[in-house]
Amino acid sequence: LTCALVGAPVQTGTQQDGCIMGPDAFRTAGLARTIETLGHRVIDLGNAAIDPVDAMDHPNPALRGLSETAAWAATLEHAAFTASQASDLPIFLGGDHSLAIGTVPGVARHAADKGQEQFVLWLDAHPDIHTLDTTASGNLHGTPTAYFTGRTGFDGYPALKAPIKPENICMMGIRSVDPAENAALSDSAIQVYDMRSIDEDGIRAPLQGFLSKVEAANGALHVSLDVDFLDPSIAPAVGTTVPGGATFREAHLIMEMLCDSGLVTSLDLVELNPFLDERGRTAHLMVDLTASLLGRKVLDRPTRSHQS
Ligand code: ARG
Ligand code: MN
Ligand code: MN
Ligand code: MN
Repeated sequence: LTCALVGAPVQTGTQQDGCIMGPDAFRTAGLARTIETLGHRVIDLGNAAIDPVDAMDHPNPALRGLSETAAWAATLEHAAFTASQASDLPIFLGGDHSLAIGTVPGVARHAADKGQEQFVLWLDAHPDIHTLDTTASGNLHGTPTAYFTGRTGFDGYPALKAPIKPENICMMGIRSVDPAENAALSDSAIQVYDMRSIDEDGIRAPLQGFLSKVEAANGALHVSLDVDFLDPSIAPAVGTTVPGGATFREAHLIMEMLCDSGLVTSLDLVELNPFLDERGRTAHLMVDLTASLLGRKVLDRPTRSHQS
């Protein structure tokens, strides 16, 4: 495969500074080298950037970084579309999760051009499904899934060319949901596997079910991996830690199953705040998870469970 790295140093979607350093921390942790070791080609397209913007007004007084974040939407939509054309697998290096308001619409436009439906696997403690009106924190990293599914309430944002169908989205790892988000999810066809469901049933069957849907539709699959999907004990470098997250083994199994499926067409690595890391361990874990997604294996021969 040819992988394109696109840095998206977005931090206007959070209240804590540090995500701006994310792309360089992924590079420092050896992302390109690691991917090349697995036999792939890597092109690093550098970091995207926005021009200075004028302030935007909104009736919700809690909102912060609105005009900058809306500007990132257009810039990253374009960068994601171009990187999808230039490579087999664009990897977007965040930056906070508000960057998905650009990366997801951009890859979805590429899929639509190829006559494919876009699917999204959202690996996160949070559904990030607030609108500009419902967010109480005002942190726009809590809003991307509402925007890219075409919910109203995003005045001033770019018009969506290819909204994502809620039934094409699968969320896993969810364990922190605000009341307005719960209301939005109740009305929605998004498949949500919260941590209770993972505790009871594991990740294998639900993920296999979702991947079968993607395959049957011959769809494109975008994976959006938020650091806070992982348990804080193994991934401390994130501003929004929530206890009880995915384990090392659950996370690697997901990546290995995604690799075996051959369905993944793009990836976000988001919310890494290197300022909060411990000697780079979270950055290294994210790189290792990407390696599992791209073919790193324990055995050369198939694992037992794959033989039957
Ligand atoms: N729901 C909370 C909020 O809206 C947390 C959002 C966390 N999102 C994230 N991408 N880390 O403020
Ligand atoms: Mn492509
Ligand atoms: Mn998130
Ligand atoms: Mn999160």
